Amino acid sequence: MKKILYVAGEALPFASSGGLGDVIGSLPAALTASGECDVRVVMPLYSAIGEKFRKKFEYIGSKYIRLSWRSQYCGLFRYVHKGVTFYFIDNEYYFKRYMLYGEYDDAERFAFFCRAALEILPDIDFFPDILHAHDWHAALSVIYLKQCYARLDERYSNIRALFTIHNIQYQGQYGFELLGDVFGLMPSDKEIVEYDGGINLLKGAVVCADAVSTVSPTYAKEILSPKFSHGLDSVLNLFSFKLSGILNGIDRDYYNPSKDKELFANFSTRNLDGKALCKSDLQRMLGLPEKDVPLIAVISRLVSHKGLDLVMLAGDDILKDDVQLVVLGQGDKSYEGYFESLAERYPTKCRALITYNRDLSKKIYSAADIFLMPSRSEPCGLAQMIASRYGTVPVIHETGGLYDSIKDFGCESGGNGFTFAAYSAYELLNSVNRAVGLYYGDRETFEKLRKKVMRVDFSWKQSALSYLELYNSILN
Ligand code: GLC
Repeated sequence: MKKILYVAGEALPFASSGGLGDVIGSLPAALTASGECDVRVVMPLYSAIGEKFRKKFEYIGSKYIRLSWRSQYCGLFRYVHKGVTFYFIDNEYYFKRYMLYGEYDDAERFAFFCRAALEILPDIDFFPDILHAHDWHAALSVIYLKQCYARLDERYSNIRALFTIHNIQYQGQYGFELLGDVFGLMPSDKEIVEYDGGINLLKGAVVCADAVSTVSPTYAKEILSPKFSHGLDSVLNLFSFKLSGILNGIDRDYYNPSKDKELFANFSTRNLDGKALCKSDLQRMLGLPEKDVPLIAVISRLVSHKGLDLVMLAGDDILKDDVQLVVLGQGDKSYEGYFESLAERYPTKCRALITYNRDLSKKIYSAADIFLMPSRSEPCGLAQMIASRYGTVPVIHETGGLYDSIKDFGCESGGNGFTFAAYSAYELLNSVNRAVGLYYGDRETFEKLRKKVMRVDFSWKQSALSYLELYNSILN
């Protein structure tokens, strides 16, 4: 049985700020179910992790961990969730914070976390075959493993490292003054993490890891070009032999329209009456007219790579038709302001819910007819898969994991959504119009498409197999 240790900054159901939490909350369970590996996860014990869970956590012990000249307390807790063992690193100074990330001292917080992830291995008696680290928050665990621990201790030198990039935009960039003082790295390590006149942790992990993966095959190709790489294309090209892409899946039990308690009503492909109820109840809740018009949804972090500039350009044109638009998300003030003003200008057609709320998101996924996801770039994207599961037909820009998961209705096999290739508001509008046109023009075909979309298998089954293959290839 292969032993795999996940090092990650978030995991559902404990603490999450986006898609990474979904993945770390569901992929380990899918791998465990294969019976081929023992996957365990280590993550910080944030204050956001509520009492509901904490009271069930088992305290294992504590120790002091060196981080450069510091010696910091590290408590360790354990909890088994869906057959997967999670370890939580406790240090209130670092993790009793308002946010998971975005604190002034993230560099130090996650350096501590990464050291702790390696330091606890003797205590939990689990030296993995593969350390699987995710995104820049966990990058230092790979760097420390290869540059420090593997050189001194045989138990660590046998560990292989896989680093997964969930979004290359966030790289962990800092000044060199942190090299020794915060990260506790040697001057000889400088070259490893050096990029563009400073420290780049993601780059360091790419250099040190035995393999690098990202969350869709198309994104794995895209990040080799400057248009998508956020500066790292030359490094990735140099190490392209390490790089592969595996499409994420979603947790089909957590996202299950026939069982979800958060929905106004349950439904399935066999009986979609509940979906109509979900829609009218949401309309009532939001004070929108309760009528049979296509309900278009945007559920997204409101940040630039999500393609919201296109929605800003096309918003008025989309709302010219007899449709309703519901937006859920928070982020950049400019987008929040735009959607709030759009809702003010179209009081009977549009609502902007500026918040991050998972329950509400399920109510909207299940109520809507059309799901808009025009991301400029999208490593994988889960929302288009979740929307599909709830019978909401996606409209997407052909990039990254969106391209790998959604094919156009007009294509030979009939497709499972509406897609556009050129990143333009005109193309977006054209695709929305095709979807709305089908809804009004040929309702029967639209309903067939809805059912087809619901049946697409976006579970982890296939992707978990691909990860197993990748683990095997790393170990051979
Ligand atoms: C990041 C990416 C998103 C991906 C998720 C999980 O949030 O932006 O595309 O689905 O990670 O891998």
